[in-house]
Parts: sequence; C-alpha cells; structure tokens
Amino acid sequence: MPRSDQDRERDRQRYEVAGGRVPNHPDLMASELLPLEYRPAVVEFERVVKKYVSSESRVIELGCGTGRHTSALVKSSRFVVGIDYAMSALLALQSCGSWGPQVHLAQADIAAVPMPDSSFSVVVCTSSLSYADPVQLIGEIRRLLSSGGTLIVIDALRHNPIYQLNRFVALLRGDRTITSLRRIPSLKTIASLTKYFGNSEVRFYGHSLFLMSLLKIFVSLERSLEISIKLDQHLPRWMAFRFVLVATELEKVSI
Ligand SMILES: C[S@@+](CC[C@H](N)C(=O)[O-])C[C@H]1O[C@@H](n2cnc3c(N)ncnc32)[C@H](O)[C@@H]1O
Repeated sequence: MPRSDQDRERDRQRYEVAGGRVPNHPDLMASELLPLEYRPAVVEFERVVKKYVSSESRVIELGCGTGRHTSALVKSSRFVVGIDYAMSALLALQSCGSWGPQVHLAQADIAAVPMPDSSFSVVVCTSSLSYADPVQLIGEIRRLLSSGGTLIVIDALRHNPIYQLNRFVALLRGDRTITSLRRIPSLKTIASLTKYFGNSEVRFYGHSLFLMSLLKIFVSLERSLEISIKLDQHLPRWMAFRFVLVATELEKVSI
C-alpha cells in the first residue's frame, strides 16, 4: 500500500478516536469556544460566512468533524451537508438535535464526495486541506461547485519554521502523519485554489502566536492580543499560523 494511503488510514483512525472524545457545543460558534488568542481567524471565518452564505445557499463542509465551524454555516443557510470519514465525529455532531433538519451528514472521503457535479453554491473547508492530495481535492471542489460558486477556507499555513517545528514534534509523538504534514497548505496551494475564481480575498493570522505565552508574562492577555493583531497586519504572510480565504465567482469549465 502506498505511504499516502497508509497515512490516510492512520489519520482516519486517529480522528475516529478523537471524535468520540471531543465535546461539541452546537449552539456556540467556534469563536466562542476557543481561547482568546486563537479567535481572530475564526471571527474572520464567521464574518465571511455571514457575508457570503445566505439562507438559499446550498453549502457543503468538507471535513466537518464534530462541527466546530458548522454552527456558523447552519446559522446562515437552510441547507448544509457535512462530510467526514470519522463516524464518531459525525455521530457526535448528529446527536445535537437542536440543529434542525437542515444539516445532512455523510461519511465519505473529501477527495471523492458522492454528490453530483455542480450541486453546491458554497464549498467550505475547515482545517481539512492537509488530508487529501491537493490536486485531487481542488478538482473535487471545482466539480461540486456550481458556476459562480463560492469557496471558503480556514486552515493552517505551512511556512513559519517555529510552527513547523511544533508540527514535527507532533509527528514524532505520533499525533500527525508525514503525508498530512507535507500537505499543509502553502502560499502556492492558496494560489492554486484561487486561480479558478473571479475574485478572492485571503487574510493571514497568528504570525506571533508563539510569542503569546511570553508576552502574557509581562502584559495582560487582552494587551498581548492587541499586539498580536497589530503584528498580523505588519508581518509577512509566510509567518502566519492560519489563513481565511474566500473566493467567489467560480469560472466553470469541464474538468
Ligand atoms: C483538523 S480536523 C478539523 C475538524 C473540523 N472541521 C474543525 O474545524 O474543528 C480534520 C477533519 O477532517 C476529517 N478528514 C480528514 N481527512 C479526511 C478525508 N480524506 N475524508 C473525509 N474526512 C477527512 C477528519 O476526520 C477531521 O474531522
């Protein structure tokens, strides 16, 4: 079996175990669940969802997990499909009755979604880009989207060596696979994702997240967050920890 398939199976098993452990809070937005220093990117994700997803949108979330970001989608659209290969995560998400009938969950591979071509007006990827072959996944996103459709992504960025070191330690601990590590989106991935769309907007966050624990010793958490937000505006994009992307007006051509 090729290395990437072995790693896919290892990742799936890890998420299957994790899905059974993570408590989900369907009525809360991800920004309300996270520690203060991790919130700016998620607040931007929620702003983008509010702006670009309407009640008429047909939305699919690839890699929905236990639904941390799904709340924002459900608050905006009457039709949301969540795809994940971890059954335990989907069951945890499904057990939240308060979501109503507009959420449809399916256990499937994000790189081969069993849905017809052009069946969604919005595709959302929430920290799932590292888990499929990028060329295959971009093809799948384009196939699922209808003409003029919108792509929304919140994910990690690869380049910053400090975050890379942290991820490498996770690899040594067995909490990551080498394939998912190699597939963490880069600036090049972002360019490949956006080139099929008429318009795109990408914002970068968490350039100085690694400094927060140090800063918090000297100034309050709120002040260190203000500093971190300022640094996000001035430091180069490659230093970012995460990004939020919205691309609109897909130019549909047969793939
Ligand atoms: C980093 S977690 C993100 C979960 C959730 N979207 C969030 O933001 O909290 C990645 C999710 O993608 C799912 N996943 C990874 N690879 C997948 C694949 N090939 N097909 C379907 N789901 C996948 C995992 O089960 C996991 O729930």
